Amino acid sequence: MLKGKHIILGISGGIAAYKSVTLLRLLIKAGAEVQVVITPSGKEFITPVTLSALSGKPVISEFFTANTGEWHSHVDIGLWADAMVIAPATASSIAKMANGVADNMLITTYLSAKAPVFIAPAMDLDMMAHPSTKRNIELLKSYGNHIIEPAEGELASHLIGKGRMEEPEEIVKYLYRFFASQQALKGKNVLVTAGPTYEKIDPVRFIGNYSSGKMGYAIAEEAAHRGANVTIVSGPVSISTSTPNINIIKVESAREMYEQCVKIFPNCDYAIMCAAVADYAPAKYIDIKIKREKEDVPVIKLVKNPDIAAKLGAIKRPDQTLVGFALETNNEENNALEKLHRKNLDMIILNSLQDSGAGFGKDTNKITTYFSNGKKLEYSLKSKVEVAKDILDSIITK
Ligand code: C5P
Repeated sequence: MLKGKHIILGISGGIAAYKSVTLLRLLIKAGAEVQVVITPSGKEFITPVTLSALSGKPVISEFFTANTGEWHSHVDIGLWADAMVIAPATASSIAKMANGVADNMLITTYLSAKAPVFIAPAMDLDMMAHPSTKRNIELLKSYGNHIIEPAEGELASHLIGKGRMEEPEEIVKYLYRFFASQQALKGKNVLVTAGPTYEKIDPVRFIGNYSSGKMGYAIAEEAAHRGANVTIVSGPVSISTSTPNINIIKVESAREMYEQCVKIFPNCDYAIMCAAVADYAPAKYIDIKIKREKEDVPVIKLVKNPDIAAKLGAIKRPDQTLVGFALETNNEENNALEKLHRKNLDMIILNSLQDSGAGFGKDTNKITTYFSNGKKLEYSLKSKVEVAKDILDSIITK
């Protein structure tokens, strides 16, 4: 998986920098081409000579070489990379990355990198537990960066706690798993429904809901980053995506969404039904604005909308995977399992409005996934970008 991959190994100034030598050796042994970028304080812990000997490339630390004036382009290095690994990432480097403080070559390279970024924090337990570090790590996660959580154990201060940089072997395994998961969706066709639907009452009014489309768009972007050809059938939302490989079909009503999905689904490997589809639509569209009645209150007769997920479940082939969502307020697990079976889904993602931080419009979500084979996975509260990664990982390994 790592053979021929271009990897930037970023090293910042912490005791754990000695482990970066082993990490570098393992990456080279796995066939990767590694460019080391080290911060000025990183060089206090480990010498560039060791790192350049092992990587077979000059180590980059400054913006230009002092004696020749040769400029080191962080943009070129950032574009060259298939992955950037920052290990160890100190509290200071984490803060700079989170806030765009581009005062050394490592941070400018990070800001220029288009490739996925893996960050292995290493610091003392109190620094790790400090609200500012926690907030910065959450920010980095929300940018889509991967955090390789530090382990618990004895630290350089001899205190025991969370803050030890993950072992080099584990970091390499993490990268392996990442590149393997990228392969799984390469060239696959993925359909995602997102946002609300609007059911027209008259030219100025509709029945709708508070869905923002953020979860569906995050899933679509993550699938596209993993090499899938993605189509979003999207209800009216105010967000968009700039990721290539995503085709957005805009619809308004559940009926329009249904028609598009039924047309597209036979050509799909995966379909993820994230839209908050209105269950009912007005039986009749009135093509002039309904006027306020003097005495009577108008009655709007409703008819049932088609259930898109259930329809796709009914026509699904064994080689296709269908995933649904259940947004519940009560009796959550039973309701989710009932929908999983009734709609013939392979997996259902439950989010409960009982959990603060989950649901419509938020940037975070807390999910539990249930599979048709009985498996269940529970996750903590995360940014929707992180949740999208978890969802795709679990779909691939179902
Ligand atoms: O039955 P309920 O609306 O709770 O089911 C939720 C799941 O079914 C979601 O995945 C949603 O996108 C999908 N659904 C659908 N068409 C409908 C109603 C729900 O695809 N008419």
